[in-house]
Amino acid sequence: MPYRTHVMVCAGTECATNQSFKIKEVFEEELKKKELQNEVLIVMTGCKGSCAVGPVVIVMPDEVFYQKVKPEDVPHLVEEHLLKGRPVQKLMYKPPEEKVPVPTLSDIDFFKRQTLIVLRNRGLIDPEKIDEYIARDGYKALAKALSQMKPQEVIEEIKKSGLRGRGGGGFPTGRKWESRAKMEGDFKYIVCNADEGDPGAFCDRSAIESDPHSVLEGMIIGAYAIGACKGYIYTRNEYPLAIERLEKAIDAAREYGLLGEGIFDTNFSFDISIFRGAGAFVCGETTALVASIEGKPPEPRQRPPRTALWGRPTVINNVETWATVPQIILRGSEWFASIGTEKSKGTKIFSLVGNINDAGLVEVPMGITLREIIYEIGGGIPKKKKFKAVQTGGPSGGCLPESLLDQPVDYDSLIEAGSMMGSGGMIIMDENTCMVDVARYFTNFLKDESCGKCASCRDGLIAMSDVLEDICKGEGKESDIELLEDLAQTVSSASLCGLGKTAGNPVRSTLRYFKDEYLAHVKDKKCPGGVCKVLIEYHIDAEKCKACGLCIKACPNEAITGAKKTAHVVEQAKCLKCGACHEACKFEAVVIR
Ligand SMILES: Cc1cc2nc3c(=O)[nH]c(=O)nc-3n(C[C@H](O)[C@H](O)[C@H](O)COP(=O)(O)O)c2cc1C
Repeated sequence: MPYRTHVMVCAGTECATNQSFKIKEVFEEELKKKELQNEVLIVMTGCKGSCAVGPVVIVMPDEVFYQKVKPEDVPHLVEEHLLKGRPVQKLMYKPPEEKVPVPTLSDIDFFKRQTLIVLRNRGLIDPEKIDEYIARDGYKALAKALSQMKPQEVIEEIKKSGLRGRGGGGFPTGRKWESRAKMEGDFKYIVCNADEGDPGAFCDRSAIESDPHSVLEGMIIGAYAIGACKGYIYTRNEYPLAIERLEKAIDAAREYGLLGEGIFDTNFSFDISIFRGAGAFVCGETTALVASIEGKPPEPRQRPPRTALWGRPTVINNVETWATVPQIILRGSEWFASIGTEKSKGTKIFSLVGNINDAGLVEVPMGITLREIIYEIGGGIPKKKKFKAVQTGGPSGGCLPESLLDQPVDYDSLIEAGSMMGSGGMIIMDENTCMVDVARYFTNFLKDESCGKCASCRDGLIAMSDVLEDICKGEGKESDIELLEDLAQTVSSASLCGLGKTAGNPVRSTLRYFKDEYLAHVKDKKCPGGVCKVLIEYHIDAEKCKACGLCIKACPNEAITGAKKTAHVVEQAKCLKCGACHEACKFEAVVIR
């Protein structure tokens, strides 16, 4: 039955935990009350990317984007918009610092500036219904590959497209496939790396949640190209919604004859299973991942020999890489290669988190600048604060300063700048960030996540972490800076796998761009970002203080004194340096020195 309106309710992880299923229920009740249930269809979609303002509801075809919707808003929304045709202004998106809402989704900068390939179906289909994927040309690329192309032609098309792996390293996908296709053996494997261990990254999870079939379709095409008969999707147990949608997608694909014996009535057979990992960062490294599937401890090992599951030819690619494949086969390598830069083709998904107005998930063409992503798509830094740095590439990526905001985002430029692409986490930091503390945080993360096999990585990261802790506690020496540089160099050069090889990046990049902050810590015993507790003091600026008493109320240790019409004062001996007064003050009178 045709419906005049579709109400798309986001059911990605963030929106779902913020009651989007309850919102659906109330919509259904209200539609029944108004006898609109045969005119308006509720569709639960995957993540739309605008996670900072969820739960999100989009009314189509009007394209009205509603944010922060609560179940109690729904009756009014149904009455006003769906019955009377008057969009509800107060729930519509307003750009930061502006008062007038943006009328339609395609006018919102966050969406307007993106180029969607992997996320082309996000928010438009119910990811749990294979027919909706098929209605948007799903499995057409597979049909084309199987009926019109020889396996080698598929590989050629991927090679010509210039697709490079989205898991971080950027290895050319076509070349990887070709080498495995040439290997002897009638039992080969395809693996989808959906481990996604980077803190702050949720690109792969979201891609799966919003469109699981595109990942499956890519894997089936890859299997046909190299002659594989079995595939695994390696994901972490902490991704229950992604796993549930994958399970449903695999079942539906089997039912439709798109997985299993004789796919599309050819003699090509292939099936996929899900493997749930325990969620350690190092499990994403290919040799560790393979060991994990084989039931061994997930420790990386030296290469060569090549990564091979149970000793058999194996292609491992990232979620985004697989989900890109069907579009290349369907639309052609030339189309794909026309997007991006000379050496980094196509698009990349980034999860924008930290001090950014429109946090969420974006897919952008390679070569876009950091400034465009952070300011034009992400809406800039909240509370008009100054940008300090952006960390790209996950825990072992690097922190890039303001002077590099016009840096194009592609594999090679990021490495040149001392960072890397990684699997797509982008952490934005404002002026109230301490870069030494940031290096300490990531080094600690890597220390805890190191599998401990290489002494350089295991002991080197402990040593680096100790030095950074000392500096943040005000106990650092000037010679520590050189020591950190040496340690970072040793860990990188002497370790076996990518974790150790890149573990020096947080320290190196912060030393390269923010050395003055290290010097302020070790020489002046000051923390310019106002973060390292031992090195800071909270004071009240008497000229700005309105004696409102909010800071007095917020202080948990009665460290602030003051009366009406008298500027308040922080008693340093009692101050716990928790920052509650700073947070509470509406007049920016509480300053950190
Ligand atoms: C410590 C470490 C963690 C990694 N984590 C992931 C991950 O979570 N997901 C991923 O796709 N690749 C990860 N990689 C990269 C993989 O080893 C591998 O290069 C990638 O999955 C290959 O797929 P691609 O060619 O499509 O990028 C990690 C590498 C290292 C060294």
